[in-house]
Amino acid sequence: MTNNVEAFENWIRTSFVQMNTELENLYFAASDRAGVVGVGDPIKAALRDEGHGYVVELLAEGNTGDGFDIAFGVLGNVGMYLGALRRHELTNPSREERSPFREASSLALHVGASLGMAPRFSTAHLATRNRAIAGVRKSFTSLPDEFLFIDENTRGILSLQQAADALTSVVHLGVSSPVADVMFDSAKSALREVIRSNDRLIEGLDVARFFYSVRPYYKPYRVGRQEYRGANAGDFSGINEIDLLLGLCRANDPYYSQLLVDKMLFMLPSDQARLRDCMTRQSLLDELLTLREDCAATDWFQNNARAYLEICDLFGRSAAQHHDGLVKRFIEAPAADLNEEHMAGITASGPPLPVLLRSLELLRDLRTAADRRDIATRHDDIALLRSAVE
Ligand code: HEM
Repeated sequence: MTNNVEAFENWIRTSFVQMNTELENLYFAASDRAGVVGVGDPIKAALRDEGHGYVVELLAEGNTGDGFDIAFGVLGNVGMYLGALRRHELTNPSREERSPFREASSLALHVGASLGMAPRFSTAHLATRNRAIAGVRKSFTSLPDEFLFIDENTRGILSLQQAADALTSVVHLGVSSPVADVMFDSAKSALREVIRSNDRLIEGLDVARFFYSVRPYYKPYRVGRQEYRGANAGDFSGINEIDLLLGLCRANDPYYSQLLVDKMLFMLPSDQARLRDCMTRQSLLDELLTLREDCAATDWFQNNARAYLEICDLFGRSAAQHHDGLVKRFIEAPAADLNEEHMAGITASGPPLPVLLRSLELLRDLRTAADRRDIATRHDDIALLRSAVE
């Protein structure tokens, strides 16, 4: 790690966090919590200028060749810097045609392109690749609600990855294998952990603090000329591996394949490879349905189909919880109190809130195999399989 990389990393972990936290406390104490323009201007200027100093040095150094981890760290740091500038309204894609932060954009573009990732911070920077130093994880602020959010997101992601690993092992063993039970059990217990982690967020996260002081760092922003959507906890391959391996979502569905393509560059290259591999597999549901006629009476079919259905139930519960517990409680409900002026850009992906909510609802219904005729859920196929299990 060069001195410039280390200096920027230290700044992001210390002064950057302090300044963001001070600003959040000023905004939160104001009568209009969503109005950030004109509040704390000297702190904002210090954040912008101090960060710029590190960025200029790194850009001049032009070194992305110190290995993946270091380049990935620089991308996260410059991305968090740009994300904070966006949050404090020092840049806003709707009023600009290109980012006013040319050096930071160039650095992000250089490192992002060299890694094969979008030139912005992504979920992995704050979740699965967020290295704790003496117990402290990287974050924008030191607010307890931000740490709760980051930690539970990470636990959720790790558990979903475990479930995806287990289901991938079932594919390798074959769905008729009597030893698939080990992996089905492992997937079940991982999904129970996802549900517990979501419960902790629903119970412990403060709605106003999350909405006004944490979420705004995940807004879209421009890098160079192009606007990039914000990071969200879904930017890892595990969730889609589960969708595809269970067969609840299909890669040839135009809506779903578009979603996969759109998120590719927001994931680690290793996740991109996993997702591509998974897209070539036959789903467990399709395999079980094919075998149903000849094998329904066998022990392996009864055991494995029952385990598969239990996994679908748990996965569906976690998806319903995301939509009905997390999205509604922490985004839709507090957004109802915002005026028109503040509504623009509250979502991480950019579309107006009602449009985003409809697309998240659609995902929930695919994952719960809901009885909907307007979209291709697996409701009838799951019912058919259920009817074959005694
Ligand atoms: C307070 C907690 C959370 C809230 C309010 C929330 C809200 C959202 C929203 C609004 C989106 C759409 C992206 C956008 O804003 O444009 C999204 C996407 C997503 N989130 Fe969360 N989320 C939360 C926690 C989690 C957790 C813990 C997980 C599990 C690891 C998760 C998994 C996902 C996934 C997979 C997506 C991508 C869309 C999908 O495939 O369903 N989220 N979330």
